[in-house]
Amino acid sequence: MIYLDHNATTPVSPEVLRAMMPFFQDSFGNASSFYRPARTARAALEASREKVARCIGAAPQEIVFTGSGTESDNLAIRGVCRSFKGEGRHVITSSIEHHAVMKTCDDLEQQGFTITRLPVDSLGRVSPDDVRKSITPRTVLISIMTANNETGVIQPIEAISAVARERGIVFHTDAVQAFGKIPVKVDELGVDLLTISAHKVYGPKGVGALYIRKGTTIAPVITGGKHERGIRAGTENIPAIVGFAQAAETAVQHLGEESVRVAKLRDLLETAIREKIENVQINGSDAPRVPNTSSISFASVDGESILLHLDLRGICASTGSACATGSPQPSHVLSAMGLSHMQAQSAIRFSLGRENSREDVERTIEAVRETIEKLRGISSVQA
Ligand SMILES: Cc1ncc(COP(=O)(O)O)c(C=O)c1O
Repeated sequence: MIYLDHNATTPVSPEVLRAMMPFFQDSFGNASSFYRPARTARAALEASREKVARCIGAAPQEIVFTGSGTESDNLAIRGVCRSFKGEGRHVITSSIEHHAVMKTCDDLEQQGFTITRLPVDSLGRVSPDDVRKSITPRTVLISIMTANNETGVIQPIEAISAVARERGIVFHTDAVQAFGKIPVKVDELGVDLLTISAHKVYGPKGVGALYIRKGTTIAPVITGGKHERGIRAGTENIPAIVGFAQAAETAVQHLGEESVRVAKLRDLLETAIREKIENVQINGSDAPRVPNTSSISFASVDGESILLHLDLRGICASTGSACATGSPQPSHVLSAMGLSHMQAQSAIRFSLGRENSREDVERTIEAVRETIEKLRGISSVQA
């Protein structure tokens, strides 16, 4: 099998699994209890918080562990909006966000908030100037993702945060697809809230974190006990949190060399596909992108058919967001970038990772070339 869908999820790495194991049975205590096994769990929780904080240049008290990237996005957006009570009723976001942000904003709209969904240019970038122009006296939050999950395109977060700061508006970024692929440091980005998720960086599924800058007011979304300083109730998932911290640390330690290696493989894939196959378009390729992601449209071929053929050859890729698989609608991200319905429907996302080799990429190039030739042959016969 050649796995090229690392933006959907990654396997748990051996050192992450090793770090997690003791916390399932030996040190299984509830971090909120008072006896010794519980203190071991509490110590592991706080050590993990420090590690995750260090990876993004934050203080440990600024990290809240959650049950996923999706939950962190919900906590950031709903938490800020709730904390403002009736005062402000306007949120600015983009038209290319992950569903975790997009659907949360849709829901707030149903509750009476005004949502501005900013357009992107043909490279998939939000304009900081558009952000500035859409701010009103009722704006309470700006939420723009750091890197897009379908195209890998990186947003001008520093410029947007400068606008937010100037106007005193809380700024959240979903950095799920950026963390572990490019440097993500909260002060350099200038953000108040930042979402990350473990399973995109070789950690376990079902654990995320929200960075909350000291002084940012946020109301809890899940209520109950006093866990996570009362911001996120629920007994902490210690094995998953320990695994997350190990995964984050490893990803950040190897970021430099790994991003260069993966970028070379991605470039090889794109160059060869451009050379060997006619009428292809690499979406967002002229914008800064995370090094592992490639979104390619193959004119007059249906993306789902390409995936099925690649799957038969043991190659796992995706048509875009895993959360949107099976949807008859073309990608909202590619549509926002100005692609036609057909162009968007013909796109495949390849997202490379740690275990991919040059040989994997060479085999993929050949498989893609043969698949497109076959499918284009079929579609011209049908036409
Ligand atoms: C940009 C982005 N945000 C949020 C999420 C959701 O993260 P999780 O799967 O941990 O809920 C994903 C997952 O695909 C993502 O790509």
